[in-house]
Amino acid sequence: MNKTVISLGGSIFSSDFSYLKNFIDIMKEKETYAIVVGGGKIARERITLLREMGASEYHLDKMGIQATRLNALTVSLALGNAMDIPISIDKALETLEIYGKVVMGGTEPGHTTDAVSLLLAEAYGSKRVVNVTDVDYIYDKNPKLEGAKKFTELTYEEVLNMLNEKSRGAGENFPMDVLSINIARRSKIEIDIVSFKDKENLKSAIEGKKFLGTIIHS
Ligand code: UTP
Repeated sequence: MNKTVISLGGSIFSSDFSYLKNFIDIMKEKETYAIVVGGGKIARERITLLREMGASEYHLDKMGIQATRLNALTVSLALGNAMDIPISIDKALETLEIYGKVVMGGTEPGHTTDAVSLLLAEAYGSKRVVNVTDVDYIYDKNPKLEGAKKFTELTYEEVLNMLNEKSRGAGENFPMDVLSINIARRSKIEIDIVSFKDKENLKSAIEGKKFLGTIIHS
């Protein structure tokens, strides 16, 4: 049985939904899957608005979680499913047990859906998480800058070092966070970073075939 977990970045809901439709096309063929969906623009917009209005960070996370669940329900319905969106890893495991498939968003405040995808992978016994995102590789600096170098392979330690440097620097977008990498490291779960922009390449990554992107492993 294919036990890969997919972490679907909320950025796939931007633009005209053509990338989302491509993803749905790929996944509709599968009988089993585990997909964790991010909050994207709707999460960011509401969080920014409510932060300005003085809501606590805890409550902003709760807002973000609702956005991830809205996106998860969208993906689930697009895939033709009728089951509820589980609100915890334990419930997700139950859903997997019953249906062989699950689509979920966030769980509790304090982390991201990437961390949820790694925790689900641990609990479900999967050794690979495919992180579907809007960047094609991890780069050593902002890919828009001249001379930016892309990585096809990185160790957990190398990514953690990069994340440390980033937190001191510009805070630019990076497709993984420290907690997620630490969970991956403790259970030796490979993380494959792939862009949603090239349908065939995305399909290859999801199916565990050779793909263009960054592999994070031991
Ligand atoms: P995301 O997982 O989409 O956050 O959840 P992100 O990594 O910041 O977004 P991208 O990948 O850059 O688009 C959206 C927000 O929901 C809350 C957090 O506030 C997060 O920033 N959240 C999500 C939680 O608090 N717990 C969860 O389990 C999931």
